[in-house]
Amino acid sequence: MKKTCELLSLLLLLMMFEGLSYGSQIDQAGPLRALRKAKMRGESTVDGEQWAVSSSGGEGSLNNIVGGDIKNDVIQGGLPGQPSSGVKFKQYAGYVTVNEANGRSLFYYFAEATHDPSSKPLLLWLNGGPGCSSFGVGAMVEIGPFGVNSDGKSLYLRRHAWNRVANTLFLESPAGVGFSYSNTTSDYHASGDKRTAQDAYTFLINWFKRYPHYKKRDLYIMGESYSGFYIPELADTIIHKNMQEDSSSAIQLKGIMIGNGIMNDVTDRRGIYDYVWSHALISDETHQGLIEHCGKSISPECDYFEEKVGLEAGNIDYYNIYIPTCLSSSNSSIKPKRQGGFDPCEEDYVYNYLNLPQVQEALHANKTKLPYPWQFCSPLITSWRDSPSTMFPIYRRLISAGLPILLFSGDVDAVVPVCSTRYSIDAMNLTVIKPWHPWSDETKEVAGYQVVYKGLTFATIRGAGHEAPRFQPRRALALVKSFMAVKSSI
Ligand SMILES: *[C@@H]1O[C@H](CO)[C@@H](O)[C@H](O)[C@H]1NC(C)=O
Ligand SMILES: *[C@@H]1O[C@H](CO)[C@@H](O)[C@H](O)[C@H]1NC(C)=O
Ligand SMILES: *[C@@H]1O[C@H](CO)[C@@H](O)[C@H](O)[C@H]1NC(C)=O
Ligand SMILES: *[C@@H]1O[C@H](CO)[C@@H](O)[C@H](O)[C@H]1NC(C)=O
Repeated sequence: MKKTCELLSLLLLLMMFEGLSYGSQIDQAGPLRALRKAKMRGESTVDGEQWAVSSSGGEGSLNNIVGGDIKNDVIQGGLPGQPSSGVKFKQYAGYVTVNEANGRSLFYYFAEATHDPSSKPLLLWLNGGPGCSSFGVGAMVEIGPFGVNSDGKSLYLRRHAWNRVANTLFLESPAGVGFSYSNTTSDYHASGDKRTAQDAYTFLINWFKRYPHYKKRDLYIMGESYSGFYIPELADTIIHKNMQEDSSSAIQLKGIMIGNGIMNDVTDRRGIYDYVWSHALISDETHQGLIEHCGKSISPECDYFEEKVGLEAGNIDYYNIYIPTCLSSSNSSIKPKRQGGFDPCEEDYVYNYLNLPQVQEALHANKTKLPYPWQFCSPLITSWRDSPSTMFPIYRRLISAGLPILLFSGDVDAVVPVCSTRYSIDAMNLTVIKPWHPWSDETKEVAGYQVVYKGLTFATIRGAGHEAPRFQPRRALALVKSFMAVKSSI
């Protein structure tokens, strides 16, 4: 079975909401919860030191690697099972080597914009985990051009796909996730934030060698969840490296956009406790216990109250507290079907589709015959080397570099809830430029709320869960479109 919470069980014995990701195949937050706990325990495997851009130049991979021929990456005739009409954009997929010595190579999928791609920006999408697939989750379930039908073989066109507004690039990162791999398997145990950012940077440089016509294009980096760390770290790396390059080879980074992303351990955690209480999932006593015992460090009392959260809240989907779950034990006649335009069992279809040999062949994926199936979140990455306790210092640098930043939050997510993001932003002491106000898309309904601070914008997406574009596709598309329309200052 496509259990994707192995990382979680391997990393940890006890964790918040234990076992309650039951039925949810995409467990982007499972690894995240495990990591949070490991950090609180002060486990030696997780280095919580401050982030700094690595001074080593991508382990010598930058200069040697030739771009490779774009022709080899064209998805000829489209993906298996894609609709026979209405697909007017080009698709590419393949590998970019990020470390030749170790044979470390990252897989990407690239769907050009539906109309006039040469006039549209480039958008790099990163999912979190750490260790979950941007292709399987981001492209196939959230914002990519296609979703998978219940037969697990055919595709449908996603109405609010983001390649309507940008050229969309999905990177499976770090090595060990999805189709990305390393021939030196000890690389998997050396995974961490620093190497992830370094490899993603090396990926971009080498990808631009293959796609030189995108080198000067405006680049946006977007994603959710644990990429609340990946994205600022990659942006920091790019800005740092750009300063060392002559301006002709600088990457044209124009903004970052993060949904339900982690920012700062202490406030993120407090936000979870207050969210599950204020949304009537747990008792007053348990909330009080969490506040008293789960401050900065871990204790048996804290473990006790975190376990109580799971018991009290019951088997709900923490990624969207109001949707039905896809119970893997149920048969199709009693499975909840597409409700409000989405199917809670869609992950199963994506899993089946991406494991079809003809699909992997069309994608130029898995050429080295990896000895395990494609999965949403990697079971190979069982330890994580470094993860800072806060992004605040990086945000300060990005803000002073003038990089446009949008933090958005689906407001029915209990994994990285809107409360966490608000507490974290509050703790940054930013000046409010435009206070709390509703925003809307073309339907004129209230789509969410927005606050503009000096340095970043915060927006909620009403009725969206952790994977916000999955649950509120129209609103999410409207938000990204308006963000990219704002001219940047760098
Ligand atoms: C990994 O090893 C396989 C088999 O030797 C080889 O075909 C492939 O090119 C290697 N990958 C990298 C990135 O060097
Ligand atoms: C599925 O559920 C229906 C209705 O409850 C039942 O008749 C059928 O036997 C079930 N099938 C399986 C394979 O469990
Ligand atoms: C790669 O291909 C092999 C052999 O065809 C298959 O057994 C395996 O599940 C695939 N792995 C991935 C990650 O796609
Ligand atoms: C915000 O202000 C408080 C109170 O002055 C201070 O303790 C805290 O360190 C500040 N936070 C940041 C991120 O600068």
